[in-house]
Amino acid sequence: MIEYRNNILMCEDIDIRELAEIYESPFYIYSRNDILNKIRFLKDIFSSLNDVLIAYAVKAENNLSILKMMIEEGIGADVVSIGEILKYIKAGGKPHNIVFSGVAKTKEEIKKSIELNIKRFNIESIPEAVRINDIAKELKKRVKCSIRVNPNVDAHTHQKITTGINGNKFGLSIKTIKENAELLKSLDNIEIESLSMHIGSQMTDAEPFYKAILVMKDLIEEIKNMGFNITDIDIGGGYGVRYNRDNLGFDFDKFKTESINLLKEMNLKVTTEPGRYFTAESGALIMRVEYVKEELGRKYIILDGGMNDYIRAAMYDAYNEIYPLVKKENVSNYDFAGPICESSDFFAYNRECSELKEGDYAALLDAGAYGFSMASNYNSRPLISQIMIDKDKHYIIRKKQTFEDMIKDEII
Ligand SMILES: Cc1ncc(COP(=O)(O)O)c(C=O)c1O
Repeated sequence: MIEYRNNILMCEDIDIRELAEIYESPFYIYSRNDILNKIRFLKDIFSSLNDVLIAYAVKAENNLSILKMMIEEGIGADVVSIGEILKYIKAGGKPHNIVFSGVAKTKEEIKKSIELNIKRFNIESIPEAVRINDIAKELKKRVKCSIRVNPNVDAHTHQKITTGINGNKFGLSIKTIKENAELLKSLDNIEIESLSMHIGSQMTDAEPFYKAILVMKDLIEEIKNMGFNITDIDIGGGYGVRYNRDNLGFDFDKFKTESINLLKEMNLKVTTEPGRYFTAESGALIMRVEYVKEELGRKYIILDGGMNDYIRAAMYDAYNEIYPLVKKENVSNYDFAGPICESSDFFAYNRECSELKEGDYAALLDAGAYGFSMASNYNSRPLISQIMIDKDKHYIIRKKQTFEDMIKDEII
């Protein structure tokens, strides 16, 4: 939905240059209809299964307006903190559609989540199972849980976003689950109704999903025989997006023929936790060229947005397309850098792009997931605004922080 039409970069029916005149740069834009299309597409992929909860991984982008539109589409939440739970509820979501993942759930978070009656905890360690059981006992409740399995299947993605192989901090190995089966069964205030997994993010091949679900299938059979009443499976998220426009993104055709058919055979209730897939391609970070700097044969485009606004390139060498708002015939090769005082504050190296000059604007594409939600005030820079676009309309969904907002909690 963010694409060139007649060499002008458009988001839905809006010429992004118009936005750059209205909103203070840098700022994020999101295409509402792109998000809706992605939601409806994924619902369709799962439509042949009987009982499915699509629980959006709130960490990807947690603006209340975006959560609200998802909730209106019947989307649940996969959360990793009480803050995410409260944001989802504030946006109109129901606790019974929330699954709580994450390796370090505190006592306070567990207590509050039980009081709110969330759907389920995805347990990441044996001490966590014991802790949830103890708190549930104090509250005289019996709570539903899933055990997050580390199936030891390589997701073939970046090392820093791989989560389902031995040595990752997430979930429990099959060995640990079996060794602790009796202990888990003895915990009277938790009911283990599900096994869950999340093997990694930004997967493009559907094969690792299938392999991991097969591992889960065998394990479910085994632990059912040990006396667990497993009725659900949570297959996590990780559906990849294009980022590089020469790539294709996640192979949903293969996923449907292999994994969805396997899930159908297993005849369990299914949860999935997409994050990036719903919001990444809908969003872009719009930045102004502050300087064009030439130095020892290199040309640098110095932008007014940096790693504090979008950290993925600096954090794990992520690739994003960078498009000028107007595409011209003359091209040049540039290094794109931000204003932050860190050598890692780069968006791209030696990238071919239409020629840019001071005062032009450029869009960092596919920045709608793990973009604003990972932003910080580093270098005392205020958090920037977020703008939603719906066909030919645009409206602000988060105001830019003022200097006063930024310092209001500090004490002299
Ligand atoms: C437990 C869990 N579920 C879902 C997700 C969402 O992943 P993605 O945004 O790649 O779909 C994550 C991401 O880290 C996760 O840790």
